Amino acid sequence: MRRLLYISTSRTPILPEQLDRILRVSRANNAAVGVTGLLVVGGRRFLQALEGPDDAVRATYERIRADPRHFAAVILADQAITERTFSAWSMGYQPGAPLTGEGKIADDVAALVAPIADSTLRGYFSGFAQTQAAA
Ligand SMILES: Cc1cc2nc3c(=O)[nH]c(=O)nc-3n(C[C@H](O)[C@H](O)[C@H](O)COP(=O)(O)O)c2cc1C
Repeated sequence: MRRLLYISTSRTPILPEQLDRILRVSRANNAAVGVTGLLVVGGRRFLQALEGPDDAVRATYERIRADPRHFAAVILADQAITERTFSAWSMGYQPGAPLTGEGKIADDVAALVAPIADSTLRGYFSGFAQTQAAA
């Protein structure tokens, strides 16, 4: 199994009905191929974790990356895992801080996840942002 984390920028401000549609399709597709994950949306930024069988994660990410609704996808982490972090959700959703998508990636990751109430989830993402910022 692997876990891939990326950040991208929406072409337009994200309306609730657009987000609902993305989540509905994601949940159906991901459940069918054993992918779980979390989507954090703040302003124009998407931050998403995808985890599951290698082939399924790769194919799902390639499809997402080609989606014209967003651009400038940057992979933040792509690693082999033995346990899922987001096993509860075929695609969970967390609102993030509203960002324009013009900030530095490490700063944006930290700011996006700051409002996440669940400290384990927040720690997973912000820990990564700190590693990137220190590098
Ligand atoms: C930010 C974002 C996240 C997405 N996440 C997923 C996802 O987790 N799983 C998925 O199947 N599609 C996801 N999609 C939608 C895909 O890009 C694509 O539209 C969908 O999988 C349907 O693909 P198809 O039209 O080729 O069947 C996401 C799209 C965006 C913009």
